[in-house]
Amino acid sequence: MPTRAVRRFLIALLLVAAGAAGQERRPLPLPAPRTDGGLPLMQALKARESSREFDKRDLPLQVLSDMLWAAFGVNRPDSGRRTAPSAHNWQEIDIYVALSDGAFRYAPKEHHLVPVAPEDVRVLTGTQDFVSQAPLNLVYVADFSKMGSEAEAEKIFLSAADTGFIAQNVYLYCASEGLATVVRAGVQREALAKKMGLRADQRITLAQSVGYPKR
Ligand SMILES: Cc1cc2nc3c(=O)[nH]c(=O)nc-3n(C[C@H](O)[C@H](O)[C@H](O)COP(=O)(O)O)c2cc1C
Repeated sequence: MPTRAVRRFLIALLLVAAGAAGQERRPLPLPAPRTDGGLPLMQALKARESSREFDKRDLPLQVLSDMLWAAFGVNRPDSGRRTAPSAHNWQEIDIYVALSDGAFRYAPKEHHLVPVAPEDVRVLTGTQDFVSQAPLNLVYVADFSKMGSEAEAEKIFLSAADTGFIAQNVYLYCASEGLATVVRAGVQREALAKKMGLRADQRITLAQSVGYPKR
């Protein structure tokens, strides 16, 4: 398992390889997710809680990989369906990953991270002090262009519901792995959307901080 320094070096190398603005940015591959093990479901439910005190330690790439798969990865490769349900199977929620090394979009089919911003945007993912202490903040973004011709109010409602299932998957994964997490509506939406290059029809629904519990 890479040390923190090695992990940072690998990510930095990949970002340098991506080059200056305007050039293609290369995805960051994730290790294959470990899809067995973990706490029995009833024990994970007993342990599920919100926690707002994080250790600054980075999460290993393997943990990030497992968490993203649990959140909204492909669990049925034949059909491309996912670990969380979505209205009409639109699969309209994208998970953005804000680390100290930059921001990325999770691509579930390829199970890799696509760089979207080279800088640390964690502070913009929230409005509370602990947010920039957490090594990882997930940002849930609804792509309204995938939601057909529904009225905007319906898109808002359904994408919020779909986000909830994903966030609960992350809560249960964290309970199983002894990680701290809290889902959050408090997000600096406008500034963050700009930094992550979102279109007007990509809407930030919620964010979720994740890390090791503070020692
Ligand atoms: C939709 C939603 C939005 C939330 N927004 C925030 C938030 O912005 N900041 C925060 O600290 N907690 C937030 N929470 C976490 C709740 O405060 C927390 O779930 C609640 O106090 C119950 O605690 P528990 O999760 O440990 O059972 C949010 C929870 C939900 C479901």
